[in-house]
Amino acid sequence: MRNEIVLFINGVRLAVRGAEAFQTLSDFLRIRLRLTGTKVVCSEGDCGSCSVLLGRPRGERIDYRAVDSCIQFMFQLDGTHVVTVEGLSRCSGNGGVGRPAPSDRPAPSGLPSVELTPVQNAMVECHGSQCGYCTPGFVVSMTGLFERNATPTVDEWRSGLTGNLCRCTGYTSILAAAKQATNESPQSLGEFYPASAMIGEFEQLRGQPFTVNDGERTVFSPVDVAAALAFLKDNPHAKIVAGATDVGVQINKRVIAPKAFLDLNRIAELETICTNDGVIDCGARTSWTDVGDAVRERVPEFFDIVSIFGSPQIRHVGTIGGNIVNASPIGDSLPFLMVADVQLDIAGMNGTRTININDFYHGYRKTDLKPGEILTRVRIPVPANREHLSLYKVSRRHDLDISSFTAALWLDVAGGVISKARVALGAVGSTVIRPRRTEAFLAGKPFSEDTMRAAGDVAIDEISPISDVRGSADYRRQLTRNIFLRFLHERTRNVA
Ligand SMILES: Cc1cc2nc3c(=O)[nH]c(=O)nc-3n(C[C@H](O)[C@H](O)[C@H](O)COP(=O)(O)OP(=O)(O)OC[C@H]3O[C@@H](n4cnc5c(N)ncnc54)[C@H](O)[C@@H]3O)c2cc1C
Ligand code: FES
Ligand code: FES
Repeated sequence: MRNEIVLFINGVRLAVRGAEAFQTLSDFLRIRLRLTGTKVVCSEGDCGSCSVLLGRPRGERIDYRAVDSCIQFMFQLDGTHVVTVEGLSRCSGNGGVGRPAPSDRPAPSGLPSVELTPVQNAMVECHGSQCGYCTPGFVVSMTGLFERNATPTVDEWRSGLTGNLCRCTGYTSILAAAKQATNESPQSLGEFYPASAMIGEFEQLRGQPFTVNDGERTVFSPVDVAAALAFLKDNPHAKIVAGATDVGVQINKRVIAPKAFLDLNRIAELETICTNDGVIDCGARTSWTDVGDAVRERVPEFFDIVSIFGSPQIRHVGTIGGNIVNASPIGDSLPFLMVADVQLDIAGMNGTRTININDFYHGYRKTDLKPGEILTRVRIPVPANREHLSLYKVSRRHDLDISSFTAALWLDVAGGVISKARVALGAVGSTVIRPRRTEAFLAGKPFSEDTMRAAGDVAIDEISPISDVRGSADYRRQLTRNIFLRFLHERTRNVA
């Protein structure tokens, strides 16, 4: 079996073995390759200073998305092309890791001979940088946004850059730079790094599992579920890794130090999405970006929640399966997935079983998943009648923030009477909950202020919130009461 990882960085092929396979991408870039343009500040996916573009083959082309390299491990990157800030600009003397040299444009005065991209030029001309520490991350994220959208609007720039923090320049000049760059129609990365030079090799790698052992740690990266299950049988405590947006933070903060990893990143069947009979059927490793694309038209309420899930860098690699298995009481997808009665396929050595997500959680971070099992598919029924479906995320900041409270309310109302109620509440107990007594209370009642006020009273007897940095238990009780009234008033306002 192959015992090395093969990837391209700024167009150069590299094989990675031993301990380096377990490094974060940012460490590998900075320590091994001396590509120090990629900065590290938080090491937990919050600031975007370490952003790089991660290219994965999609058919004949390579699809580039910005990711936080501080929470990506090298073993996740087999068969990919990573482009760092050094790889964006045409510059001479960069050791072959940047684009080919020069230069029909004069270098800005006082700087070495570098041909800046339209994005970089715009950052210079619009004064989008002061200390410069965040600047490579912004440049990479802007370039990544252009890869998905040639003409972003100001709002799209605002949401597209929520994963990048700047502590000194301020965002006005950075947004001005983004706007200027849009007018200059930057070229796509595919024009500088022809996919044809890499796709053939990616195709060969696609069918080959690999394992790397550095004497202390092992990682296995299979290409099918059967091989993954066989590995888990022998290594029941192996840490399963999908996007690593949770696992990466836990490892960087030394909360966990796994000795064995099962990498799901190359199992193609875990990434397919299909929609049939009103069901969106997602592989568990479908990224939030791809889930968002699938639900945008069909369940716009869920799309709105997905579009403020973390940041673009988090959504590009973080997966629906990871969010479900992570089992956080503040997992943002869970309230909707629970009221939608999503079905989960779980594969084990004895076959695949299906379970309703409402039966999946048994306590704080406790799930129905047994050792040796993998979540393989998430089947989301598209709500037939969404007139009375609302999803809520309450957090201190609108973007890139952890929820203080989440909720999903979905009522069937006919002739002013509630015939069926589905409610899920997050951050009010050890798991996201379905308050069943509240749901039963609502059924058969008039859809009125009295009913919704009384439902809030029933619900607070079903929750057990705690106080933490994001809010007190009383605050969460008050939010629980309020959400029922808000739901009603949103509809009354619409009618008026
Ligand atoms: C900066 C930042 C912002 C974030 N913002 C949000 C947010 O707004 N809302 C929110 O809900 N979450 C947020 N998260 C948490 C995280 O991004 C999500 O939970 C994400 O969906 C996890 O997916 P992943 O693929 O990265 O999971 P991983 O980190 O790879 O795995 C998470 C857990 O699930 C297990 N696992 C993964 N896939 C499978 C599988 N198929 N079968 C069995 N086990 C599996 C892993 O072993 C691990 O225990 C944020 C994280 C960061 C770092
Ligand atoms: S260093 Fe902050 S997101 Fe990676
Ligand atoms: S320029 Fe200093 S952090 Fe942005």
